[in-house]
Amino acid sequence: MTRIILIGYMGAGKTTIGKPLAAALGLSFYDLDWYITMRYRRSVAEIFAERGEEGFRDLERRMLHEVAEFEDVVVSCGGGTPCFYDNMEYMNSKAETVYLKASPEVLAAHLRMGKGVRPLLTGKSPEELEAYVSESLAERERFYCKAKHIFDVSLMENIKQVDRSVEALRKQLGI
Ligand code: S3P
Repeated sequence: MTRIILIGYMGAGKTTIGKPLAAALGLSFYDLDWYITMRYRRSVAEIFAERGEEGFRDLERRMLHEVAEFEDVVVSCGGGTPCFYDNMEYMNSKAETVYLKASPEVLAAHLRMGKGVRPLLTGKSPEELEAYVSESLAERERFYCKAKHIFDVSLMENIKQVDRSVEALRKQLGI
């Protein structure tokens, strides 16, 4: 049985590498935000608006406990998932956990393109976004670094690089 959980900051490319990794290994791919959206029939933004961040984190934890029971899967979590409750310890007890690591500059560049759908980033100017990413990444890294594996995803700007990263990650995980 193989179960891999990908963690990392928003914009790191958890889905970008998670989907082809799952396909290459013949595993199913689950994105935790997507799973929450399906189970509750609400977007993440709507859940934040209705229940606040605290409500979202509670629900995220409960959904993590469902998804982490699935077998032969690659699961990508939200950027905040590892930083609340005992989620990181729980994930380490259930799966091979991988921190997808990238610099604040790379993350901010990715997020500048898609920040509209992320409640924690809405309304931020490019300068505010960069400052926010640097500060919150510094706070979150102590949780992320508890993952069993750390994998650099700074170079995933095109399909070739993504494919190479998938191969390199497989090698690192020995699968
Ligand atoms: C969050 C990351 C998002 C989503 C929510 C909160 C965070 O997921 O779970 O908006 O706290 O970093 P992605 O990392 O997939 O964007």
